[in-house]
Amino acid sequence: NAQQQQYVRQIKTLLKQKNAVLVAHYYTDPEIQALAEETGGCISDSLEMARFGRDCEADTLIVAGVKFMGETAKILSPEKTVLMPTLEATCSLDIGCPEDQFSAFCDAHPDHTVVVYANTSAAVKARADWVVTSSIAVEIVEHLDSLGEKIIWAPDRHLGAYIAKQTGADMLMWQGECIVHDEFSAKALLDMKRLYPDAAVLVHPESPASVVALADAVGSTTQLINAAKILPNSHFIVATDRGIFYKMQQAAPGKILLEAPTGGNGATCKSCAHCPWMAMNGLQAIQQSLTDSSGHEIFVDEALRQRALIPLNRMLDFSA
Ligand code: 13P
Ligand code: SF4
Repeated sequence: NAQQQQYVRQIKTLLKQKNAVLVAHYYTDPEIQALAEETGGCISDSLEMARFGRDCEADTLIVAGVKFMGETAKILSPEKTVLMPTLEATCSLDIGCPEDQFSAFCDAHPDHTVVVYANTSAAVKARADWVVTSSIAVEIVEHLDSLGEKIIWAPDRHLGAYIAKQTGADMLMWQGECIVHDEFSAKALLDMKRLYPDAAVLVHPESPASVVALADAVGSTTQLINAAKILPNSHFIVATDRGIFYKMQQAAPGKILLEAPTGGNGATCKSCAHCPWMAMNGLQAIQQSLTDSSGHEIFVDEALRQRALIPLNRMLDFSA
């Protein structure tokens, strides 16, 4: 509508004025991803968002995603101004892993290597030996396992179980979960597969093991988009946030993309395949953050930043 178009025009002007770029996650709404695309920003998974933010020439990054993504950007680029459409956009994994409790857990197992998912606070990253995203988690844990290391894994128990199964690594698990992926239902998915016998099932490993077991491809958002590009099937049933459909449809034109079913129905599921925090990244909020940065800027304590940078750089160096 006219209001949305006005925000788009204003944002384009502000991005130029401030030498700013929009860094958006695949789970943000289509108009946000389209804007990132049109303005030379990036749309990607958590790993590529981190790398793009670090390597681009901009003075200001506007991170459309959730808080840990803004913090990661700031940890990697302290000289850049990092803004978020809203600082309220958090993640159930981050909330479910408070630093004090996590530190106590690590202290109780000092002989373990601490590997945390990127979906954590800067303080939790600062306590870790390694940070991983879903696109690189299996490779890094495989590497650590080959060195004979025992691992503490946090916070996503489903992703942890998937990695342990793939690698056979000895992993002590934190019991967190993503409220979006945790709701996908294997029973409902089996019923749906019967309706679409030719469909391939694409699953993000934050989903329960029973759902992962029904997958034709398992992986990070980027890996799932690539799978849709390659697999010959005419239909895909997709168990991840529906925001991914924007890029997946571009990657696989002519294919039919279907949302995997959740256990509840519209009235009872909490998130219904769309992250409520990702959904907070609207055009108006982006326009506001670029107009007046107060209340939108990410700050990370410098001593904490330096500690969190070590495990983050390990991941980026490993994947380089
Ligand atoms: P990836 O984009 O790294 O697969 O992460 C998924 C996610 O849940 C981010 O919040
Ligand atoms: Fe966190 Fe899940 Fe939302 Fe990703 S989709 S930001 S893991 S709550």
